[in-house]
Amino acid sequence: MSDTILVTGGAGFIGSHTCVALAAAGYNPLVLDNLCNSDLRVLDRLERITGQRPGWIEGDVRDRALLDRVFAEHRMAGVIHFAGLKAVGDSVADPLGYYDNNVNGTWVLAQAMEAAGVQTLVFSSSATVYGDPDRSPIPEHAPCRPANPYGRSKRIVEETLGDWQAARPGWRVALLRYFNPVGAHESGLIGEHPQGRPNNLMPFVCQVAVGMHDRLMVHGNDYPTPDGTGVRDYVHVMDLAEGHVAALRQLQKAPGLLTLNLGAGSGLSVLQVVQAFERASGRAIAYEVGPRRPGDVPAYWADPSLAERVLGWKARRGLDAMCADSWRWQQGNPNGYA
Ligand code: NAD
Ligand code: UD1
Repeated sequence: MSDTILVTGGAGFIGSHTCVALAAAGYNPLVLDNLCNSDLRVLDRLERITGQRPGWIEGDVRDRALLDRVFAEHRMAGVIHFAGLKAVGDSVADPLGYYDNNVNGTWVLAQAMEAAGVQTLVFSSSATVYGDPDRSPIPEHAPCRPANPYGRSKRIVEETLGDWQAARPGWRVALLRYFNPVGAHESGLIGEHPQGRPNNLMPFVCQVAVGMHDRLMVHGNDYPTPDGTGVRDYVHVMDLAEGHVAALRQLQKAPGLLTLNLGAGSGLSVLQVVQAFERASGRAIAYEVGPRRPGDVPAYWADPSLAERVLGWKARRGLDAMCADSWRWQQGNPNGYA
């Protein structure tokens, strides 16, 4: 019998891709999601890709009674916890809502897991915990100085799960710090569909390519970077998904606490992304240079060597694949799953 893994937030962008990687690795994903930022029709697509429909529970991770029922009804080998809110601007406007969802949600989940005797947890953290780093590439031991409530919610969860694992050494916890996830499954059947106007670069570029916006606004070209535009570590979402499977496998071998960067290990500028997208799509991406976006960091990228050493994982898919796969998804699904 294959191991069942509870995937909270599994209907979302990274969670849905991780369901594909889990199924490919012989696990049995069971998705729990409240659909606050996703669409149930993703399950049909997952079934088409994997030939297996993931189990489904509609609900909120803060609902302890629901979690107790779920753990009583299913023998779970572990939990991958994606459920959370991720919009920096919203977190500034509603910090308590963000702490409730992201921090309290994780605490309720961990308590329900403990009560059920499930002690293996992979948590979605973010490179945003580093804030404005002193240097790149960033190693995991770099200081954490999150600069907004979203980033602090991730850091609080990291610290409190660290305390919890120290108090319960039988627990197996992985804190995965994602850099900038982009791309889509190569089938073009699942991908990222932001609600409203996208804040992030790749979804916005995709929407310019299909004519939903006439141009991209480049947020500043006077940074101390090779072409003056912001530099980030973009990592293909399927590489990220496979990183979760690798982390789960490692946790299944031994108890402990892992804190790992998941990134490609190199930085790309806004204009490099735009040019690669033009090559992948064959469309011109019009852009205009505007002012810097408040709160933006000029440049950062991961030192992903610890993840390679500990998990044997590294990102394999490059910028061209990220753009080609994003474009295939965008073209085939201009309205997301609708
Ligand atoms: P997403 O919004 O696509 O997925 C999150 C999913 O969680 C959604 O399906 C949403 O409906 C669900 N959800 C939210 N709150 C919930 C709750 N209380 N109970 C049940 N379900 C809930 O986002 P994503 O990009 O897939 O991100 C997944 C995780 O990774 C998040 O925790 C996010 O903070 C983290 N992360 C994302 C990025 C990124 O750039 N996408 C980077 C670093 C970290
Ligand atoms: C943002 C979040 C970060 C989150 C990450 C997820 C902020 C301040 N940070 O990071 O917490 O973890 O998304 O991937 O929101 N850009 C443009 N024009 C656009 C959009 C973006 O020029 O329309 C530039 C940005 O200035 C930046 C780069 O593209 O240099 C990447 O931006 P984005 O995709 O929003 O990611 P981050 O800012 O790295």
